[in-house]
Amino acid sequence: MPVRALWYRPGTLFLIDQRELPGRTVVRRLTRIGEVADAIRTLTVRGAPAIGVAAAYGMALAARTRGETPDRAASVLRATRPTAHDLFVGIETVRRAWVDGAEVDAAADAYKERVVDECHAIGRAGAPLFRGEKSVLTHCNAGALATVEWGTALAPLRVARQRGARLFVWVDETRPLLQGARLTAWELARERIPHAVIADNAAGHYLARGDVDAVIVGADRIARNGDFANKIGTYEKAVVAKENGVPFYVAAPWSTFDPRRPTGRSIPVEERGDDEVLELAGRRIAPRRSKARNPAFDVTPARFVTAYVTPGGIVRPTGVAEAVARRPVPDDPR
Ligand code: MRU
Repeated sequence: MPVRALWYRPGTLFLIDQRELPGRTVVRRLTRIGEVADAIRTLTVRGAPAIGVAAAYGMALAARTRGETPDRAASVLRATRPTAHDLFVGIETVRRAWVDGAEVDAAADAYKERVVDECHAIGRAGAPLFRGEKSVLTHCNAGALATVEWGTALAPLRVARQRGARLFVWVDETRPLLQGARLTAWELARERIPHAVIADNAAGHYLARGDVDAVIVGADRIARNGDFANKIGTYEKAVVAKENGVPFYVAAPWSTFDPRRPTGRSIPVEERGDDEVLELAGRRIAPRRSKARNPAFDVTPARFVTAYVTPGGIVRPTGVAEAVARRPVPDDPR
C-alpha cells in the first residue's frame, strides 16, 4: 500500500515531515493553525492536493480556538503559498462550513475523503494509458505524499501495475529541493517499482533516445485553457517531449482546476528564498557573493499537453474549459 501523508484525530493533525525523507520517517503533531501554516510554508507538507487537505484541517484546528474567526483563519492559511489552487479550495470549503455553523471537523474530513477518492479515480482513468511494458518519466513528487493517498501522476502507474503492467519510471531529481530524488524515489522503492533517478538535465537525453514512452506530471493550478503551473522544470520536459513525439500527460483532481484563470499567464508563481538554490543539503555550493533566483513553479502552455487525466476521465486540451464548467465540485475559492 502507498504511504499516507497525513491523518487527523479531533484536535490534532499528524503529518509525515517530508523534509526528513528519505532518511527518517518523522511524524509531526500539530494542534494550532499557526503550526499548520508553518508546515505548509516550510514544505513539511507539500504537493497541491496535500496542502489543500492540510489547510482544511488547519481551519478545523482554528475553529477550536477561542476568539478565532473563519476569515482571520482563512487569511493566515491563504498567505502561506500562492500557486496551488487546491490550497484555496481546501480553506474555502471549511471556511464556509464554519460560517454556516456546520460541523467543521466533518467538513475537513469530507474534503480529505473527496481528494483521496478523486486521486483513486485518476488512477483508474489513467491506467489504460500505461498498459504492457512502459517507460514513464515524471517530475517532482506527485505521489501519495503530495496528495494524502494514491497520488496524481503516480496514481495511474499504481493502478496500471495492479492490473499487470510492467513499468519503469524515470524520476527527475527536481532541483532545488529534490522532491523527485527524495520523495518519488522513496515511494517507488517502498513499493518495489523499478525506477532510476536522473539529474534534471538528463531527461532530454533519454527522451531523444527513445527511452521514454510517456511523461506524466501533476499540477498546482490549471487554467481554463489548459495552461498549467507545476514544479519548476516541467515546461522544459513538455517541450522536449513534444519535440520527440512523446505523449505528455497532466494528472489532477478538480480542486487543481481554476475556473477564474482564463490562461496560464495570470497564475501566480511562488518565488522562494535563494538559499534553496545556493545551498545543497544545508551546505553552501555557490560563492558567498552569488545571488540566486528561485521560482518554485513554471507555466506550461496547453499546446504541449497530450491529455489531462481527471477524476472524470481523460480530457483533451480543447475540452478543459467544458470539463471545468461541468465538474462536480461547486466550491470555488473566494
Ligand atoms: O513545491 P511543491 O513540492 O509543493 O511542488 C509540488 C509540485 O509541483 C507537484 O508536482 C504538484 O503539486 C502536483 S502534486 C500532486
